[in-house]
Amino acid sequence: MRIVPDIAAMQEEMTAWRRHLHAHPELAFEEQQTARFVADKLRAFGVDEVHEGIARTGVVGVIRGRGPGSAIGLRADMDALPIVERTNKPWASRVAGKMHACGHDGHTTMLLGAACHLARSRNFAGTVYLIFQPAEEIYGGAAKMIEEGLFERFPIERVFGLHNWPDLPPGEFAIRAGPAMAAADRFTIRLEGIGCHGAMPHQGRDPVVAAAALVQALQSLVAREVDPIDNAVVSVTRIAAGDAYNVIPDSAELWGTVRSFRADTRAMLERRLRELAEGIAAAHRMSATVAYERGYPPLVNSSEEVSLSAAVAAELVGPAKVHTDYPPCMGAEDFAFMLEKKPGSYIWLGQGGGAEGRVCHSPYYDFNDEVLPLGASYWVRLVEHLLPRDRERS
Ligand code: NI
Repeated sequence: MRIVPDIAAMQEEMTAWRRHLHAHPELAFEEQQTARFVADKLRAFGVDEVHEGIARTGVVGVIRGRGPGSAIGLRADMDALPIVERTNKPWASRVAGKMHACGHDGHTTMLLGAACHLARSRNFAGTVYLIFQPAEEIYGGAAKMIEEGLFERFPIERVFGLHNWPDLPPGEFAIRAGPAMAAADRFTIRLEGIGCHGAMPHQGRDPVVAAAALVQALQSLVAREVDPIDNAVVSVTRIAAGDAYNVIPDSAELWGTVRSFRADTRAMLERRLRELAEGIAAAHRMSATVAYERGYPPLVNSSEEVSLSAAVAAELVGPAKVHTDYPPCMGAEDFAFMLEKKPGSYIWLGQGGGAEGRVCHSPYYDFNDEVLPLGASYWVRLVEHLLPRDRERS
């Protein structure tokens, strides 16, 4: 493995940062201490500019290289999750009910490690923007930073993201061109029937029976209406109705999630979900109201940037350990908002643990500190590769 030597020497220091962040998790848009930690470190490294308070707690650091060149953005996320940690590690969360269960502590640390090295070495031409964003898990901190002028204030031409991946062993990377993570939408369907005595159902209109029919019908969307070559998920995740054994309730409510990759599939699922809810309600002589909320868009990697990222990863770990056609993931990621605006790529960095159940969002998850230098080296080499000093810009 060809770790940047100065970064290999930072292993212990980066591990200490990561464990400090892990012990002090903060939820979406509350990353005050984390943002201060990041900004203080960036200033101590001597980066040229540090901008705070973008999308409340977002931080952008600016490092100028030697001479003119293009500008790229490197992005890390800072927020934790509302989970009770069960790792029993010495650095486990000290905040009740909050936990870095997705490795954003590691992502922040790796970008800080890269910032430290880049500010010192400046072996590149052009400008690097280090984007530390809030609220990836919920509320779309990336979208909020864009709304607050991220790309106007900082003339970023291409943008890059990285996420740890427990299903891959440490020392491996995975990436794919095109759609890599799904759009995530949510729905609430309310069926309004007529409540009555449980023993005399003919006197009412039973929303529970209609809800059961609707759950079944919704399963036909992916099975019968989505192109089998495309991928989508419709899951009903909550049904609520009734309070008694002998009462047919007035109404029933269904919640769920819809995942998709293509814009046309996404639009079709939204339209057909409404039609099925209204149609099945009508068949049961009742009405349906549907609230459909579009969440994160699909994450779509641009192919040129995927090739560049994969080449940099291959330089570090060898091409056999870089999977360039890794299967897409039905999870969602708000870096997708940045990739809607700028070309770029999002790469997965193996860290192991998946086979043992230490997956992202598990109370037993922990970021693997062993990969900190590799992730930081990826950032540094990506900058040096994309913003070369001696040649024309790539
Ligand atoms: Ni995450």
